[in-house]
Amino acid sequence: MDASPPPSPPPDVASRRVSALRTKTVEQSMRDTEEPQHALRKSLSALDLTVFGVGVIIGTGIFVLTGTVAKNNAGPAVALAFVASGVVCGLAALCYAEFASTVPVAGSAYTFAYASLGELPAWIIGWDLVLELALGCAVVAVGWSGYIRSLMDNIGWHMPDGLAGTSDAEGFGFDLLAFLLVLLLTTVLVVGVKLSARITAVVVAIKVCVVLLVIVAGLFFINSANYSPFFPEAVPASGAESGLNAPLIQLMFGYEPTTYGVQGIFTAASVVFFAFIGFDIVATAAEETRHPQRDVPRGILGSLAICTVLYVAVSIVVTGMQKYTKLSVDAPLADAFKATGHPWFAGVISFGAAVGLTTVCMILLLGQSRVFFAMSRDGLLPRAFSQVHPRLRTPYRSTVLLGVIVAVIAGFTSISELAGLVNIGTLFAFIVVAVGVIILRNTRPDLHRSFRTPWVPWLPIASVCASLWLMLNLPAETWLRFGIWMVAGFVIYFVYGRRHSRLSTRARPQPTSPGP
Ligand code: ALA
Repeated sequence: MDASPPPSPPPDVASRRVSALRTKTVEQSMRDTEEPQHALRKSLSALDLTVFGVGVIIGTGIFVLTGTVAKNNAGPAVALAFVASGVVCGLAALCYAEFASTVPVAGSAYTFAYASLGELPAWIIGWDLVLELALGCAVVAVGWSGYIRSLMDNIGWHMPDGLAGTSDAEGFGFDLLAFLLVLLLTTVLVVGVKLSARITAVVVAIKVCVVLLVIVAGLFFINSANYSPFFPEAVPASGAESGLNAPLIQLMFGYEPTTYGVQGIFTAASVVFFAFIGFDIVATAAEETRHPQRDVPRGILGSLAICTVLYVAVSIVVTGMQKYTKLSVDAPLADAFKATGHPWFAGVISFGAAVGLTTVCMILLLGQSRVFFAMSRDGLLPRAFSQVHPRLRTPYRSTVLLGVIVAVIAGFTSISELAGLVNIGTLFAFIVVAVGVIILRNTRPDLHRSFRTPWVPWLPIASVCASLWLMLNLPAETWLRFGIWMVAGFVIYFVYGRRHSRLSTRARPQPTSPGP
């Protein structure tokens, strides 16, 4: 249990520290949310948050990546990869829940880090979250576009190659559908969160029904021979998975890169981790929740539990319907039904997937604009981006700016290179949050925590180790790209954020202050 904490500092002492490690007090974070120019409307309930969570969690991961990793990394044991990933996320979720119930303001891990670790770590995590959410949204938009094109192909409509994305067109291509989807969702978000939540609720219902359809209908088409071997034996990795593409852990310890076997399950876990991304985003909506202390932990843990059960069930059913070596990598759930001679089911599943990915994309966009909003409100990014719309009460400037950038990225980028980068960024955020829980318990034991992470510091330490383990199972190349992004973040902080931070300007003596 908790070690006995040192006496807590007076609330304003920490905010006076002028350094990259100055922290913004929890009280200051809460006061900032009350400024009328920068206050968001509080309208969400625990149910809204759970719907948001399930809406963003179920997406490209289960609809697309299940087939890829079963085929290339884990075989039918992909179900275990989902369990491993689910455990990592569960540990992180328990840490997120405490933080979100203690510091219920927009910005998720960024805000938590500001209150516990200091300004520079907060900036790093905010910068990292922008990477996770922006690229995650772009990845999902491109996946959505693929499903729509596949449905269009069924009825004989074909997009010109040049407008069908970089993967389909020869050389350079533009993904018009992904681009338009992101712009449309940006407009929805500017109009208002409540409207977004309503749309989300309908779409999430369709998506969950489709997943349940896969599980229930698929049960009747399982051939137990497909589960043999359940754990395919490890084999040397092919060219595409060797060199810088091999998991960092294999390169670090000088192993010959392999696929399948036990290592294959962990590699698969680090990839299907993408399927769980999103529960953390529930925490970004804390400031817009009516009873954040009670409802945010419920929303986070509830949505994660529902999704883990569904994922394990779907992966067991799909690998039972079709031999893992034959699973499709584009639309594995739908194609497994085609393979068993049921194209009607395949059509319904494709439609549900396309509808479902819409909400994932929208909520990633929402989370991203809220992190950006919080960073701007703190002065680490230009303050103009944290003005809320006078009538709609939404952070329209940051939403529009980021929406346009993500739309362009989605238009020009292919999925595969970016998904790993999204995962590494998210796992890094998990580590910061877990460390933050331990630090805040020691520096601010007095704060009211309506949800307390159990077994502190052991559970957060286990969360750090588990997240790091999955990170090490990602390709070395992904680490390299992540490093470059983070170096760029450092440069921006020291050139702009450090001097414009509100903590820094508050701490500076005012030149016109009247003397005695
Ligand atoms: N978890 C989300 C998905 O699988 C990001 O698409």
